[in-house]
Amino acid sequence: MRAEKPERWHIGVIGGSGLAGGIALDEAQEISVSSPFGAPSGPVVTGHLEGVRFTFIARHGAGHAIPPSSVNYRANVDVLKRCGVTDVLALSAVGSLREAMAPGEFVAVDQFIDRTAGRQGSFFGPGLVAHVSLADPVCPRLSGQVSRAVQEADARVHEGGCYVAIDGPQFSTRAESRLYRAWDCDVIGMTAMPEARLAREAELPYALLAMVTDYDSWREGEEGVDAEQVRHVMHANVDRAREAVRRLAAMLPPTREPSPIDFALDGAVFTAPSARN
Ligand code: ADE
Repeated sequence: MRAEKPERWHIGVIGGSGLAGGIALDEAQEISVSSPFGAPSGPVVTGHLEGVRFTFIARHGAGHAIPPSSVNYRANVDVLKRCGVTDVLALSAVGSLREAMAPGEFVAVDQFIDRTAGRQGSFFGPGLVAHVSLADPVCPRLSGQVSRAVQEADARVHEGGCYVAIDGPQFSTRAESRLYRAWDCDVIGMTAMPEARLAREAELPYALLAMVTDYDSWREGEEGVDAEQVRHVMHANVDRAREAVRRLAAMLPPTREPSPIDFALDGAVFTAPSARN
């Protein structure tokens, strides 16, 4: 039987590009947590913001040395779970596929299309088969709280948006970019999948705050995506992302009510108890 989650929030933050330096936690402490899935991307730092416990992992490692397809997504999520995290907030830079989602703005993503291949996308496998629902991959409660926090940090946030995950590390061709727009995708990035899948399997409510750094390559007559511009917009806005996380901490209710996602595996395991090892 699994342990009930505590009534206190403990937010796990997976910080993407631009956030390798962390989120300025009070009483920050680096801790060592091992996982059967291997090493997480980098140091695991735990501490507090506004009295709420946070644990942080930099998705691309301390010096941004891990490319999107080499991130050990399973270890990152598993380590957060082992730390006792109750909910996961992912922060990621994205390209925009919509005129209205401009560089410097934020998107609280609520859907995904996964175009990645070959990444380890499940904690389950031969010996233990489980099929968890991913119809609504984002926790509406956490995502709504994060959206309000961004507004309080005086930044523009779009509530809802579909994220197409690509392998990268190259940016997309113009034809791909136009295709993703035709699929009704709103933003594009290289890392939210399989992270969101794994968070659901770990029964961790997951929200993704995406920071738009560029228009992807669909605009007529414009240059393609430029990494230097991406870096520039990212660095110009990273403090706002940090401020949004602090505001989130300040606005969380003192008690965490259980989420249905805490029980996502109920009924999901198909392997008969007698066959489980
Ligand atoms: N991350 C930031 N901008 C991106 C883009 N245009 N495509 C994929 N990932 C991105």
